[in-house]
Amino acid sequence: MTNKVVIGGNWKMKLGIDESIQSVKGLIVATQNLDLSSIEVFVAPSFVSLSDVFTALKASPIKLAAQNMSEYVEGGYTGEISPKWLKSLGCEYVILGHSERRRIFGESSELINKKVHNALTHDLKVVLCIGETAEERASGRKEEVNAEQLSISLKGVNADQLKNIIIAYEPVWAINSRGLNPTGDIIPATPTQAEEMHNFVRNWLVSTYGEQGNQICLQYGGSMQPSNAKELLSIPSVNGGLVGTASLKPEEFTEIIKSAL
Ligand code: 13P
Repeated sequence: MTNKVVIGGNWKMKLGIDESIQSVKGLIVATQNLDLSSIEVFVAPSFVSLSDVFTALKASPIKLAAQNMSEYVEGGYTGEISPKWLKSLGCEYVILGHSERRRIFGESSELINKKVHNALTHDLKVVLCIGETAEERASGRKEEVNAEQLSISLKGVNADQLKNIIIAYEPVWAINSRGLNPTGDIIPATPTQAEEMHNFVRNWLVSTYGEQGNQICLQYGGSMQPSNAKELLSIPSVNGGLVGTASLKPEEFTEIIKSAL
């Protein structure tokens, strides 16, 4: 992949077409005086906004990502989106295995593994999300759950392909999504909690893939915002952020980007 810090904005199903265009234009203006050459930034709008957002990004170093895609290439799969089409729309990245896909839409790691291979075959870089729920953490299973998601989702991926993969560690309990959080509270991971799990993921990757496991970018996701981004990004095993809510507003997202510079 890259030794660069990677900051991604996942807009989920929160911005429509006009709002996405407005947000990306605002982001371009807010970042225009920043030298982004030392980092990588992407935004992931909804499928229906990809084309317009790509057009707006043409002269910008900011890259385009999709939030999901099909495990198939083409055919009788009503409602599905092919990696070929994402590529032709200008996507460089695709987010796969987000916890909202796993939990709400029942995506298994086996399915995500098929999508990972399909994306890599079609020259899309993968942002593979993993993370444990509050219950899994409370029952002492956080390492087991993340290791299982990694090993199944990456089955058959070789060390050379790792350069086209980012792992986003997103503890489900830290995601700013009240619908998924039983307490209704927003609880970002502390830097200590993030560091512990990033070290675990890094060690898993190195023990599985050898030295290439050290090169892979590990993003943290879950209520990253201007107030905690700098501290989280200063952790050696945190190489970027996958930002939800705070990426919707260009000024807030720009503050997070600045923390990575
Ligand atoms: P929040 O930043 O809103 O917690 O969302 C994180 C996320 O799910 C990014 O993929």
